[in-house]
Amino acid sequence: MQDSIAILGCGNMATALAVQMHAKYPQVTFHTFTPTFTKAQQLAQKVEGNAWKNLKDIPPSTSIYLIACKPQQFDDLAKNLIDVLPNDATVVSIMAGVKVDSICRKLKTKRVIRVMPNTPAQIGLGVAAIYFNNAITSNLKQKVSSLFAATSSVFTFDKEEQIDVITPFSGSGPAYIFEVARILIDKLTTLNVPPAQAQAMIKKTFLGASKLMDMSDQSPVVLRDQVTSKKGVTAQALEMLEKNNLEKIFGEALDEAYKRSKELNQ
Ligand SMILES: NC(=O)c1ccc[n+]([C@@H]2O[C@H](COP(=O)([O-])OP(=O)(O)OC[C@H]3O[C@@H](n4cnc5c(N)ncnc54)[C@H](OP(=O)(O)O)[C@@H]3O)[C@@H](O)[C@H]2O)c1
Repeated sequence: MQDSIAILGCGNMATALAVQMHAKYPQVTFHTFTPTFTKAQQLAQKVEGNAWKNLKDIPPSTSIYLIACKPQQFDDLAKNLIDVLPNDATVVSIMAGVKVDSICRKLKTKRVIRVMPNTPAQIGLGVAAIYFNNAITSNLKQKVSSLFAATSSVFTFDKEEQIDVITPFSGSGPAYIFEVARILIDKLTTLNVPPAQAQAMIKKTFLGASKLMDMSDQSPVVLRDQVTSKKGVTAQALEMLEKNNLEKIFGEALDEAYKRSKELNQ
């Protein structure tokens, strides 16, 4: 792959993606931009790219523009980008909630791809959901899918709405795992297990359970039941979670997250 990619917004997610893409495709040229320049410089260093202080300085031969600022920052970016975005450029947005129509309108552009990645992309174990609008050729679909495959397992969706539906699940999903891990570590620490040991044990518990779930043919329900003897220790804990309506709490949290992604398009 010989392309040039502009990374506009160089925070956690953009860095995770660009570093893995660079590792797999070192011949791709990266151009980075952030308003404060610092993170653009840091990312450019990591991917042997060029950091720019002004959008207008990004070489016009750049074919892919990855929009990786926050949805709330997009209007500011769009106001400046609209004047310099080449007509034939492809815009790839990872912003949660921001619709293709809105991107096309604000940038006066036609080719837009929405991707919902997640942070395990930084170790090549992300999940990326992709939606291509109807101006994207099959060549471009293949190219962008390959770029993201360097970072993630890629799932393509035919309807844009599905990207918003999956965002609270795979996009935000790692945060729920980290939060449950935090709760277990904190509790274990209060039971006089040294914090470093508590952290290491819980991290490894999550690693083992995730790998087993990934490698096993069994469903999560079967794997859960294998841990749960009748009237045993685990059964007692699961019963308490059920009594306190864990499933309802998660359902409501996911619904709220979905509502938020709708608001972000406003
Ligand atoms: N984090 C996740 O797990 C995750 C998962 C899926 C999707 N996303 C999406 O990824 C995007 C970035 O999230 P993040 O967590 O990486 O955010 P972040 O760490 O806060 O990074 C945001 C970046 O955008 C830059 N920025 C701010 N205003 C800008 C502008 N006008 N033009 C260009 N760049 C601008 C910031 O620049 P400065 O450094 O100069 O402030 C910063 O580098 C969001 O749209 C989010 O919805 C994130």
